[in-house]
Amino acid sequence: MLCIAFTFASALFENGLLLHIVFGSIAGGLLTFRLFWGFIGPTHAKFVNFNFSLSDLFYYLTNLFKDRKIYAGHNPAASWATVLLIIFGFFCTISGVLLMGSEEDRGLFSFIPVSYHEIFFQIHVISKNIVGVVALIHIVGAFLEHFWHKTKIINTMIDGYKNLDIPDIKTTFFQKAFGTFAIIVSIFMGVFTLVFPNYSLMSKNTHEVFYHEDNPAFAKQCSECHNLYPPILLPKASWEVVLSDPTEHFRENLSEKVPDFESIKEYIFAHSAESATNEISRKILQSTNGQNIYRITRTGYWKETHAQIPRNAYKHPKIKTKSNCSACHENFGMSNYINDEDITLKYFSFSEALKIYLHLNK
Ligand code: HEC
Ligand code: HEC
Repeated sequence: MLCIAFTFASALFENGLLLHIVFGSIAGGLLTFRLFWGFIGPTHAKFVNFNFSLSDLFYYLTNLFKDRKIYAGHNPAASWATVLLIIFGFFCTISGVLLMGSEEDRGLFSFIPVSYHEIFFQIHVISKNIVGVVALIHIVGAFLEHFWHKTKIINTMIDGYKNLDIPDIKTTFFQKAFGTFAIIVSIFMGVFTLVFPNYSLMSKNTHEVFYHEDNPAFAKQCSECHNLYPPILLPKASWEVVLSDPTEHFRENLSEKVPDFESIKEYIFAHSAESATNEISRKILQSTNGQNIYRITRTGYWKETHAQIPRNAYKHPKIKTKSNCSACHENFGMSNYINDEDITLKYFSFSEALKIYLHLNK
């Protein structure tokens, strides 16, 4: 319960991703074990002994304030709440792990292309909304039971006893061992993630491909006149425009300098933003949104990330044009990897760009 609350809370903070994953993985681990517990646990923890009858649920909800019956196991509302929380909590965890892979290029599933991000994101949001709503109803229900029905249910969650005169149920040694194991493993997963983020679900996986090794013709011929633009920086539709006519490439004729045009074109199409696994490509795809944008510098994403650079900075003799990415970004165009966290700027920080701007305006 605490882990789910912390997972929700950490999602509200821009830089709370690590804690979100730490608490999310503890919660996910415990939920997974709870699933098994529903088959091998003691009598009232077993799903077969839950009450899923809809007419009982209806009766329970409509007679909440009249009938104060104490149930030995889960009452009908708690039965439904428990399975819904387990199922959708589980969905949250799985979609979260897949999101880490598709959106952030991290963890086991970092090979998943960014184009799958949207579906995982929707699953994540829908399941977390269901978990949130069911959990709130369940908490209100627990208070109602505890104080109005006088079942002392909140004490029961801790000591296991209810206000009922029925024989005790004993947990077996195996069940105790399993429970202890489940708690230790889940907490260990969370602590491990916190202490070693780079060895866990958080580990960054770049799948770096060096173009001069992967496709020497592309690396050489497409960098004859400008820096090499990694295919992952534009959607396929945009590349189709850029490469539609080799004799009309931004008023240049490519036929001489790019003899392997056809095979390079196929290579670029196959490696466009849709096929990439990194966050930058996803943001570029989102910001172009199917429009026919044929320049990286015209994508909403590029404009946003470069909004703070004064226009005059591009007039600097070492830069000349916005499209001269390698003037500012170290190792630009070498590979499909653009370090989005720690871009090494050759000459620039925002403050330096500002200095150049002031200099140009003297
Ligand atoms: C003969 C010289 C030449 C060659 C060879 C060449 N280009 Fe270009 N390319 C240009 C020019 C000129 C521009 C326009 C630059 C500008 O306006 O700043 C351009 C612009 C681009 C842009 C748009 C950059 C932006 O502003 O976002 C892309 C993408 C591009 N080229 C891809 C390629 C690819 C892929 C190849 C290899 C098939 C290639 N170019 C080969 C001359 C060339
Ligand atoms: C005048 C220098 C300059 C030029 C030219 C330039 N950039 Fe940048 N770029 C920057 C600066 C400064 C940032 C912001 C870095 C930061 O937020 O720490 C940035 C940010 C980025 C980011 C986002 C990193 C992130 O995660 O926030 C990408 C991607 C990027 N540039 C790609 C390009 C590409 C592609 C080109 C060429 C079409 C290009 N840049 C041209 C200076 C430049």
